Amino acid sequence: MTKIRWGLLSTANINRRVIPAIRESARGELVAVASRSQAAAQAYADQWDIPQAFGSYEAMLASDAVDAVYIGLPNHLHAEWSIKAMQHGKHVLCEKPFALSLAEVDEMTAVSQQTNRVLTEAFMYRHHPQTKIVGEMVKNGRLGRVTVVRGVFNFAFSTRDNIRLVPEMGGGCLWDVGVYPLSFAQYVMGGPPEQVFGTQWLGESGVDELFSGQMVYANGGMAQISASFCTPFRTEVEILGTEGRLVLNRPFTGHNDGDRKLMFYPKAGEPEEIEVPEVELYLGEVEDLHTAVLDGKPHYLTLEETRNHIKTVLALYESARTGQVVTL
Ligand SMILES: NC(=O)c1ccc[n+]([C@@H]2O[C@H](COP(=O)([O-])OP(=O)(O)OC[C@H]3O[C@@H](n4cnc5c(N)ncnc54)[C@H](OP(=O)(O)O)[C@@H]3O)[C@@H](O)[C@H]2O)c1
Repeated sequence: MTKIRWGLLSTANINRRVIPAIRESARGELVAVASRSQAAAQAYADQWDIPQAFGSYEAMLASDAVDAVYIGLPNHLHAEWSIKAMQHGKHVLCEKPFALSLAEVDEMTAVSQQTNRVLTEAFMYRHHPQTKIVGEMVKNGRLGRVTVVRGVFNFAFSTRDNIRLVPEMGGGCLWDVGVYPLSFAQYVMGGPPEQVFGTQWLGESGVDELFSGQMVYANGGMAQISASFCTPFRTEVEILGTEGRLVLNRPFTGHNDGDRKLMFYPKAGEPEEIEVPEVELYLGEVEDLHTAVLDGKPHYLTLEETRNHIKTVLALYESARTGQVVTL
C-alpha cells in the first residue's frame, strides 16, 4: 500500500476543512463519502467531486475501497463509529472531543489494539508548526519555569439549531471549544492537572454556554481556561514563565485567518515576533495518520494524552456541578 484511500463518515460541516488537506497530502486520496441517505451522500459527492457515495455509514465501512475514515459525527457518536470502523478494518481519524467518558476511550483504545488499526484524535492545531515551536521554546527553557497558561476559545452561534446545544449529543462549550485551551495547557505542562475547579453557566437547553476552569499541575504550574458560546469569536493563549511570556492570538486556528502572531516578551529586552511557517492547518493530522499506517511510526498525539483530555473535562464538569475542587 502506498496511498491511503479516505472515506468521510458523514457530510459534516467540518469536512470542508479536512477535504483540502487530504487532497494536498502526498499519500492521501479522497475516495468516498457516506451519509444517512443516498441522496444526501450523492449530492455531497457531486458538490465536492468525490468518486463514491454511500447511503449509510455501514455500507462505506463494508467497502474494500476505503482504508481510513474521518469521523466528524456529533460527539456522542464518536466512540460507536470509531469502534465499528476499526472492526471493519479501517484506520480512524476521529474528531475532538474523542469520546464522552473514560470507558469509551478505553474501549476505543482496546479495539485499536485488537484490530491493529491506527486510531487518533483530530486535534489539528497540535500538528501545526506554531504549536511545535511553542513546545520547543518551553522545553529549551526560553520562558524559564512556566507558571501559568491562560487560554480562551469563544464564539457565538448564528442560529440555535446546532448539535452543540443538545445535551444528549455531548453538547456544551467545554466539550466543544474548551478542549482546545485545556489540551494546550496539558501540552505545555507535560501532563494532566492534579486538581481542577470549574464554573459554568447553563443555557436554555441545559448545556454549558460559558465555562471557566482553573487547573493545578504537579510541577506547581497553573492554567486558567475559558470557553463560551455567547461571545464573539476570540481565541488566545498566553504562557507566563519566570523568564518571559508568549502570546498567541491564533493558537488553534492557524494561519488561515491571516492575522496570526506569535509574540515573545522576554523578562528583559525587546519583544520578538517569532516566525511560523505557513502550512495548511489540517494537513498535519492527515499526514500523521499516513505516517502511522504506511511507515509504522507511532502517531503524534498519543491515546494517553487523549485520555487525559477527557479525564480533565469530566473532572471540570464534576467540579462545576458540585462546586468542589476535584482531584484527578
Ligand atoms: N477540529 C475542528 O476544527 C472542528 C471544527 C468543527 C467541528 N469539529 C468537530 O466535528 C464534529 C462535527 O461538527 P460539525 O459542526 O461539522 O457538525 P455537523 O455539521 O452538525 O455535522 C454532523 C454530521 O453528523 C451526521 N449525523 C449523524 N447522526 C446525526 C444526528 N443524530 N444529528 C445530527 N447529525 C448527525 C450528519 O451527517 P449525515 O447527515 O451526512 O449523516 C451531520 O452532517 C464535532 O465532533 C465537532 O466537535 C471539529
